[in-house]
Amino acid sequence: MLADKKIIVGITGSIAAYKAALLVRLFVAQGAQVRVVMTESAKRFVGELTFSNLSQHPVFAGLWDGSWTEHVHLGAWADFMVVAPASANTLAKMAHGLCDNALTAVFLSAKCPVLVAPAMDADMYIHPSTLRNLAQLQADGVHVMHAGEGFLASGLHGAGRMAEPEEILAATISALSPKPLAGKRVLLSAGPTREYVDPVRFISNGSTGTMGYALAREAARLGAQVTLVSGPVALKDAAGITTVRVETAQEMFEAMTSHSAEQDIVIMTAAVGDYRPLEFSPIKIKKGDENLVLTLGRTRDILKQLGEQKPAGQLLVGFALETNDEEANARAKMERKNLDFIVLNSLRDSGAGFGSGTNKITVFSRKGEMHNFELKGKDAVATDIWSVLCNAIEK
Ligand code: CTP
Repeated sequence: MLADKKIIVGITGSIAAYKAALLVRLFVAQGAQVRVVMTESAKRFVGELTFSNLSQHPVFAGLWDGSWTEHVHLGAWADFMVVAPASANTLAKMAHGLCDNALTAVFLSAKCPVLVAPAMDADMYIHPSTLRNLAQLQADGVHVMHAGEGFLASGLHGAGRMAEPEEILAATISALSPKPLAGKRVLLSAGPTREYVDPVRFISNGSTGTMGYALAREAARLGAQVTLVSGPVALKDAAGITTVRVETAQEMFEAMTSHSAEQDIVIMTAAVGDYRPLEFSPIKIKKGDENLVLTLGRTRDILKQLGEQKPAGQLLVGFALETNDEEANARAKMERKNLDFIVLNSLRDSGAGFGSGTNKITVFSRKGEMHNFELKGKDAVATDIWSVLCNAIEK
């Protein structure tokens, strides 16, 4: 995903410098060209030889070594610069424009986006001056990764652990990828709903929310401002996505219909319960010897309502889980609910639908197009769906 991208990896004095070796490997494995810049303190933790071998290029460490203008050339060469680990000292220099070593001189010369992954002890990380420096860098447009919590080299426990190399790789790919959804607002629903019988029992379904959360993450990665209305799932809120937690179909109805007007794209992936118990017992129902009969009434069709109140220019997308007459049923649903696209998964395809990490989908458009995709992991499925939708936006 980083084919031929030119990346500078700046390494500063921190125990986490050893993790930078893995980061360089990951970048190279993704096809990037990597040049490493080290501070003198970084060399106390890991040798230059490690990085010159991994990057297949000499490390730039001495401002006075080689050509005096090396830092300028490197800065102009790069598509992206990552400083990982970024020590408190280097962050302070970067925030104030000091350039007394190779790394900070390259930073000042770089015209490309820059990402820093701080690494330091907990008290240093939360010191007002460090926080001020990080805020300044952010205001200057530098991508700042949060340091994780855990055991630190000092033996203390707290925040200050450098983000993992895989996370830094993902942030780099995201920062470098095109943003076709920049300036767009996207609203999604995900997961199941719960219809309560009494305070401890409910009717629900096996939706895990994985597909909706993957679509929300991908939308954010493509630059959209994302709101996710989520039924009860075991997934964590994703950074950069506004997540609204709901339980019942009625709560989801209210959250979706009240947010929908200002959206460019609305996608209903949630497995909304179609029925709810007509009677709710406010106290726990005690078991008896007789059968218990529950009378169920219809919930409201959220997507149908969204179709009725759809503003001009909005794209409305639904999902259809079918077992038979798949295409006809999906197309009929698209018409009935006034959708622009419908994503079909058939329970006849193994690996599709609820509970599995994969899905096999076909996307139909109101204009009559059909896009058929292979069985894939749900993240890859989300990429496919967004490629179809982004295409429609561009037209
Ligand atoms: N949906 C909704 N509100 C409901 C039921 C479904 O918004 N009360 C949405 C789902 O999120 C999905 C689409 O409608 O995007 C289709 O859901 P599905 O259950 O396949 O279809 P139904 O309309 O319920 O039709 P049927 O049960 O007859 O297949």
